Amino acid sequence: MNVAVYPGSFDPITNGHLDIIDRISKLYENVIVLVSINSSKTPIFTADERKKMIELEVSKYNNVKVETFNGLLVDYIRNKDAVIVKGLRALSDFEIEFQMALANKKLYDNAETLFLMTNMQYAHISSSLVKEINRYGGDISSMVPKSIEESLKNKIGRSGYANGC
Ligand code: COA
Repeated sequence: MNVAVYPGSFDPITNGHLDIIDRISKLYENVIVLVSINSSKTPIFTADERKKMIELEVSKYNNVKVETFNGLLVDYIRNKDAVIVKGLRALSDFEIEFQMALANKKLYDNAETLFLMTNMQYAHISSSLVKEINRYGGDISSMVPKSIEESLKNKIGRSGYANGC
């Protein structure tokens, strides 16, 4: 299996995700960053917007591409004969990741999930945290690339303190 699929909501992609992508790109010949649906989340960016935002950041790799998918992850990886790669930030991630890995395996026996430990530097970051800090005018420059910061500003602005809400 020389294809690795890195799935996630990526709403938006953060430096933590990008660090994982960088590391996967050194381990696998082909990497697909898969903008997927988590039915328990309501994203602020459309799937196509997220795809474009990620593409801009991964254009330097010639073995990484970005796709969107609205379906079961196992159906996607079955079709590509790929492994799933995920990042683990903390013990709290383990329970849900464990559950998802087992559920995927139950649905498709060849579904293998590999985990990379998130770099300590990014262990505190999540997409929701980035959106919240941005909303209240906080500094997110160490958490996301400049282009993502701009996209967030264009999408939701920095309304919190400015409007007094
Ligand atoms: N650095 C920084 N943040 C990270 C990170 C890293 N290395 N790894 C994960 N995160 C953050 C994400 O930004 C996300 O933050 P948020 O909750 O604030 O949005 C959080 O950790 C959870 O990430 P993840 O576990 O990847 O969840 P997700 O919602 O991004 O993606 C899917 C989940 C889309 C992969 C999953 O729902 C899926 O496979 N969907 C397809 C449908 C399907 O097959 N469902 C059955 C699954 S068993």
